[in-house]
Amino acid sequence: MIADFSDRDGLIWIDGKIIPWRDAKVHVLTHGLHYASSVFEGERAYNGKIFLMREHSQRLTRSCNLIDMEMPYSLEELDTAKMEILKANNLTDAYIRPFAWRGSEQMAISAQNTKTHVAIACWEWPSYFGAETREKGISLQTAKWRAPMPDTATTQSKAAGLYATHTMSKHAAEANGYTDALMLDYRGLVAEATGANIFVIKDGKIKTPDPDCFLDGLTRQTVIKLAKENNIPLEVCQIKPEELLEADEIFLTGTAAEVTAVGKIDDTTYTVGPITRTLRDAYESLVRA
Ligand SMILES: Cc1ncc(COP(=O)(O)O)c(C=O)c1O
Repeated sequence: MIADFSDRDGLIWIDGKIIPWRDAKVHVLTHGLHYASSVFEGERAYNGKIFLMREHSQRLTRSCNLIDMEMPYSLEELDTAKMEILKANNLTDAYIRPFAWRGSEQMAISAQNTKTHVAIACWEWPSYFGAETREKGISLQTAKWRAPMPDTATTQSKAAGLYATHTMSKHAAEANGYTDALMLDYRGLVAEATGANIFVIKDGKIKTPDPDCFLDGLTRQTVIKLAKENNIPLEVCQIKPEELLEADEIFLTGTAAEVTAVGKIDDTTYTVGPITRTLRDAYESLVRA
């Protein structure tokens, strides 16, 4: 049985106060719950330090603004709150989940009179896909749902509403024995996994899709820099699904996923190769530096 996330020991930061985990509740008539007026972040702390802490606070604020919500806290206040709740829970290596949502002050599509509420939770989460996948890689099944056109959704925000299709896609993949889903975009090009960006390697060169209709992950940006530092050629370009059939190595990047090798997509298998290992090692050293 997976422990219910509402029934755990610990503390949660909510609207400026630190309260017991089990008391961190919202009313059922909360705008965020009915109309997806909610955004979130996923961050990781290593040895007591949050990797790219400021960048995540900036993205949370930007996500809020992109869906027309005001963020009531400054970047400094968000950073301080994250460190406070990490310490209050005695955690040094943890996943951190800051999120913001419109409250119950108004209940219809218009929401100008709602307040933006903010909470931050953190917990231990050593490996997103499970440590046993490290040497053989995870498996992906191509989803039937697609990443939306950039003018039909706020694709650069971590808006909760965008994740409904990701959850459905991941459920479908898991039902068929795969670890996660590969999302194509509205044009049928390779986009990303349900919570991570994708990198494709062929003949010593890396390709990664241009994030013009899905999240330009902070880990993606970090790994692009690491590839440059390691003199590995990398191109940001469109990738057709057929190109995956010819790839030598494939890996995913994300704050939760870190650098995760892909061992299979649909019926095609891949080995965990040297470029994946080099960048995985480089990332693991960087986050603990
Ligand atoms: C849909 C999606 N794509 C990509 C990513 C990777 O982003 P990051 O590296 O900033 O965690 C995430 C995770 O936040 C995600 O949810």
